[in-house]
Amino acid sequence: MERTGLIEEAAQIVSNEQAAERLYFIELRSPQIAHAIKPGQFVHMQIPGMPDKILRRPFSVYMADRANGVLTILYQVVGTGTEHLSSLEAGQTCSLIGPVGNTWAPPAGARCLLVAGGVGAAPLFMLAEELAQAAQGLHVVLGAQTKGAHVTLASYEALPNTTLAVATDDGSFGHAGFCTQPAQDAIASGNFDYVAVCGPEPLIKIVAGMAQEAGLPCEVSLERRMACGVGACLSCVVDTTAGKKRCCVDGPIFQAAEVVW
Ligand SMILES: Cc1cc2nc3c(=O)[nH]c(=O)nc-3n(C[C@H](O)[C@H](O)[C@H](O)COP(=O)(O)OP(=O)(O)OC[C@H]3O[C@@H](n4cnc5c(N)ncnc54)[C@H](O)[C@@H]3O)c2cc1C
Ligand code: FES
Repeated sequence: MERTGLIEEAAQIVSNEQAAERLYFIELRSPQIAHAIKPGQFVHMQIPGMPDKILRRPFSVYMADRANGVLTILYQVVGTGTEHLSSLEAGQTCSLIGPVGNTWAPPAGARCLLVAGGVGAAPLFMLAEELAQAAQGLHVVLGAQTKGAHVTLASYEALPNTTLAVATDDGSFGHAGFCTQPAQDAIASGNFDYVAVCGPEPLIKIVAGMAQEAGLPCEVSLERRMACGVGACLSCVVDTTAGKKRCCVDGPIFQAAEVVW
């Protein structure tokens, strides 16, 4: 179903596999959305078998295999919906609405720094795939709590023309501590013209502040609790210098400088 550019599609689960503690990859056959989705956009998912939970859940798209019509989502189990999602099996069907939201917009030819914390690595991956072909330089900083939680690392390592810095909170791999330090090092190097960041809001806020101090344009992908996901209910507002905006359709990507934290 087409709705103001949005597609509603019954997506069959191809696989739903645990990758680490509380982290899962789900592959969904959703050819129309896979064809249309752009880096940074998300899908709004009706998790089946939860009759008392009518609200959809928003998930960024990590990968889109357009040839086979398959989307991959990386999700963390945080509550009842994601817990139930983790129990679903191949062959079951979820209703998806998408692609929802806007897309990353790095300046053409920019030397790009991407900073991701936790599952924030997912909404940056399709951007990284594009920039690995087009940017003048691409450096990715990935942070996670433990080595085992770096479940997207192999895909980022496989990108051409890309350098990586990895951090773990527990010091089990890469830089010991938050990924804000390698992000700061990269910004201080003066080698970048653009920063994109996604992850927990405290991380986003810190990196956005560093970019602002260095005079670099910075885009952030924000999360809000969402009810309708199509711009109608105002449950997802973000305070900006231009007033209240809706995270679902005006975002989820915002210029860091416009966000009132
Ligand atoms: C645009 C967007 C993209 C997202 N992409 C991903 C993704 O790629 N992978 C992923 O794991 N998660 C992603 N999320 C977060 C995901 O939507 C929530 O974790 C999920 O809806 C929680 O559902 P639940 O029923 O398990 O949690 P609930 O039982 O409803 O709540 C459990 C906990 O999760 C928090 N939570 C619930 N909904 C959200 C939300 N929308 N944003 C932030 N925190 C929330 C609650 O505050 C509470 O602490 C995204 C959110 C947004 C807005
Ligand atoms: S979730 Fe309803 S307006 Fe954004």
